[in-house]
Amino acid sequence: MALKITVIGTGYLGATHAAAMAELGFEVMGLDVVPEKIDKLRRGEVPMYEPGLEELLRRHVAGIEGSTGRLRFTMDWAELGEFGDVHFVCVNTPQRHGEYACDMSYVDSAIASLAPHLKDPALVVGKSTVPVGSADRLAAYLAEHAPAGADAELAWNPEFLREGFAVQDTLHPDRIVVGVRSERSEKLLREVYATPVEEGSPFVVTDFPTAELVKTSANSFLATKISFINAMAELCEATGGDVAKLAEAIGYDDRIGRKFLRAGIGFGGGCLPKDIRAFMARAGELGADQALTFLREIDSINMRQRGRMVELTRQELGGGPFLGKRVAVLGATFKPDSDDVRDSPALNVAGQIHLQGGQVTVYDPKGMDNARRIFPTLGYADSALEAVRGAHVVLHLTEWQEFRELDPAELGEVAAERVVLDGRNALDAEAWRRAGWRFRAMGRPGA
Ligand code: UDX
Repeated sequence: MALKITVIGTGYLGATHAAAMAELGFEVMGLDVVPEKIDKLRRGEVPMYEPGLEELLRRHVAGIEGSTGRLRFTMDWAELGEFGDVHFVCVNTPQRHGEYACDMSYVDSAIASLAPHLKDPALVVGKSTVPVGSADRLAAYLAEHAPAGADAELAWNPEFLREGFAVQDTLHPDRIVVGVRSERSEKLLREVYATPVEEGSPFVVTDFPTAELVKTSANSFLATKISFINAMAELCEATGGDVAKLAEAIGYDDRIGRKFLRAGIGFGGGCLPKDIRAFMARAGELGADQALTFLREIDSINMRQRGRMVELTRQELGGGPFLGKRVAVLGATFKPDSDDVRDSPALNVAGQIHLQGGQVTVYDPKGMDNARRIFPTLGYADSALEAVRGAHVVLHLTEWQEFRELDPAELGEVAAERVVLDGRNALDAEAWRRAGWRFRAMGRPGA
C-alpha cells in the first residue's frame, strides 16, 4: 500500500514539501497551528510569494476543481497521527530573541503534540534546521512518549531549498541527505524519494549528527563565499580594482566556481544569518567554539556591507547629513523572486538612511506588503519610476529582473539627479552611463 505522508508546519518549507509529496503521488495531510494559514491552503492559496507553488498546490488540494485531491489540511493532531506513516516536521527554528542560539520551541512542541498520537509504527522525519544533537534528544523523547514506543522512530532529513526556487529544489533536489538509525527508516525514506533518486538525485545516508551538520555547514560555506567576495570588494575599493572582474577570473577555476561570488550588500533572509549564529552558539555549548570563530568574521563582514552602502550613498550626496535628500530604493526583499523581507539587507539600508533623516521611497515587485508591515514609516511607491521621481540618488538593492529591464533614459527624465548606486552588482553599468547617469557599484571603479 502506498505510504501516507504528513507535513507539520506549512511555511515555505512545509507548504512546498506537502505539495511536492502530493505531486510525487502520495496521499498527504498538512497541519499548521495557525487557522488562517490552513483556511488559505484549503482554498489553494499560498501564504507567501513563491513561483510555481500555487499552481502545484491547486493541482492537488482536495476540493479544488480538477485537483487530484491527494492533499488535505487539518489542525487536528489525532487525525494527523492516525493518518500518517511518515511524518515530516517542517516548523521554523528562528533566532532566539537577544541570543545567537536558535529557538527550538516550535520543533519541541510539534514533537510533543504528535507523540501521543503515534499508536502504530511510524517514522517521524525532522526537516527543520536544528542544533546538532537535537535529533538524538528528540528520538529518545518519541520512544518514551509515543504509545508505539521504539516503533515510533526518528530520522533527520535536512532541507536545502532556496526561496524563489522552492518547487524545483524540492521536486528535483541536488542531493537527499538522511540521518537514520535503522534499515527500516532508510527503506521508508528511499520509498518516499524513489522518484527523485531514479532521476539522479544522490541519496546520502548518514548518522544523526552528520545529517544535522550537513545543513549548517552548507549554509556556513555559502555565507563564507559571499563574505569572502565582499571582503575582496573592500580591497578592490582600496586599490582601484574591480571585484566583478576578479570574481569572474577566480570563478573560472572550477575548484572555486563562479556561483555565490556576487559582491554587494550581502546576505540576509530567514536562513543564512540565523543559521551561522546558531551554529556558533551550538559550537560554544559543545566546547568547540574555536573551530567556528571564523564565522564571527563572516557575519561581521556581511553586516558591514549594509553600513558601507549607507556611507557610499552619503558620499554620493556630497558627504553631509541625509536631511532633505530624496533617496529611491529599488528592492525590499532579501533576494529576488520572493516576498520575504526577513533580515533583508535592502530594507536595512533603506531604514538606516531614513532614520538619519533621508526621505526614502521604496519600490519592490512583491515585497511591498511585508515591507510596509515591518517598516511602516518608510515611503513606498507603486513602481520603480514613481520611486525614482524627484530622487537625488537611486539605490539598487535587490536584483529583480524587472530592475535590469528598466530604461535608464526614461528614469533619467524624472530623477532630480542622475546618480545610481548598484548594491548588487547586477545592473548594466554601460547602459546607465550612456543615459547620462553617474554609476557606482560596491567594489568597482567609480564613474
Ligand atoms: C539559503 C540556502 O541557499 C539554502 O540552501 C538553504 O536551504 C536556506 O538558505 P535562501 O535563504 O533562499 O537559501 O537564499 P540564498 O539564495 O542562499 O541567498 C541568501 C542571500 O545571499 C540573499 O540575500 C542573496 O542576495 C545573497 N547573495 C547570494 C549574495 O549577496 N551574493 C551571492 O553571490 C549570492
